[in-house]
Amino acid sequence: MTIRVPIAKPALGAEEIAAVTRVLESGMLISGALVAEFERGLAERCGRRHAVAVANGTAALELALRALEIRGGEVLVPAMSWPSPAHVAAWVGATPRLVDIDSRTWNGEAAGFVAARTAATTAVIAIDQFGVPADQPAIAAALPGLPIIEDSACAIGSTLAGQPCGSFGAISCLSFHPRKVLTTGEGGACLTDDDGLAEQLRILRNHGQRTPGVFVCPGPNERLTELQAAIGLVQLERLDGMITRRREIADAYRAVLPALGLELQQRPVGATLNEQTFGALVPAAVGAAGRDRVVESLLKQGIGSGILSYALTQIGSLVELGQSAPIAEQTVARGFALPVHTAMTELDTAEVIAAVKRALDELD
Ligand SMILES: Cc1ncc(COP(=O)(O)O)c(C=O)c1O
Repeated sequence: MTIRVPIAKPALGAEEIAAVTRVLESGMLISGALVAEFERGLAERCGRRHAVAVANGTAALELALRALEIRGGEVLVPAMSWPSPAHVAAWVGATPRLVDIDSRTWNGEAAGFVAARTAATTAVIAIDQFGVPADQPAIAAALPGLPIIEDSACAIGSTLAGQPCGSFGAISCLSFHPRKVLTTGEGGACLTDDDGLAEQLRILRNHGQRTPGVFVCPGPNERLTELQAAIGLVQLERLDGMITRRREIADAYRAVLPALGLELQQRPVGATLNEQTFGALVPAAVGAAGRDRVVESLLKQGIGSGILSYALTQIGSLVELGQSAPIAEQTVARGFALPVHTAMTELDTAEVIAAVKRALDELD
């Protein structure tokens, strides 16, 4: 099975190669000027006082919980996601409380979090899923007294009411994994306006050191390297261009796919999207079996596709919690992802659409 249009492809070119080469030639591989410059660029782009670059998005979430001193109780997490937000909650000693998503935005929304809040709730991780902003201001307003971590792993470059994703949480977290719009290979960042939290995050990512040789708490090594920061700086310069191209592809899909009977993630009023992942749901009547047939047909036709996400109530590491989230479970059962990346041509986009039509026709 040859895949002609992969589901994702990082937008890396001569500039990134030159930037990495310069770092290699310099011999300065960690803790240099480029990480600091990348952090300044991220903070500016996301409208925050501080960015603390770390090894990956999961590390960003873990350090965020640790900096906020969340060690127990229940952490509210949307029930459809890559497992990281729930895993880090469990990892720091809390119980993940999986909150069902909104069927239109596929995000955890204020009412769901409020209904799930109990006296045991210690924090909320609110995800901007697939780059679609959750209504973070409404979530914060509805949950006074609770620290809110914005999981913007997928959402750099998206905005809500003119405000960038990554600007909303007490701490917001980014990922630079290769499936994300901006990549450094592995990589991530915590964003905050709080000077004390920023200092704590810098200590935590670096073996618990406040200054060289002064260890104030046990801590991991979760630093980003200069090589990664060099790539990130080039990617940050190109972010708007990459998003523009992604929007053209996603808009072409949006213009056609609903008429074929597919349900799409809804764009909240006042949001602009970075189009990190383009998902679609097969009709409820055909269910998971129909979705599997669509994905198989797309792959046979040379089009990259796969399942959309995970229902965290159902994955092996969390199933023992015994929680349920019917909308997340249905969305995951019916959902599949389609290719969106900057290397796609208009012909590729048209080919994907034609392949989806054929795959759906085969279901009849
Ligand atoms: C919502 C969400 N949070 C966190 C992560 C973890 O990011 P990373 O892969 O950089 O650890 C991901 C990764 O896909 C994600 O989708």
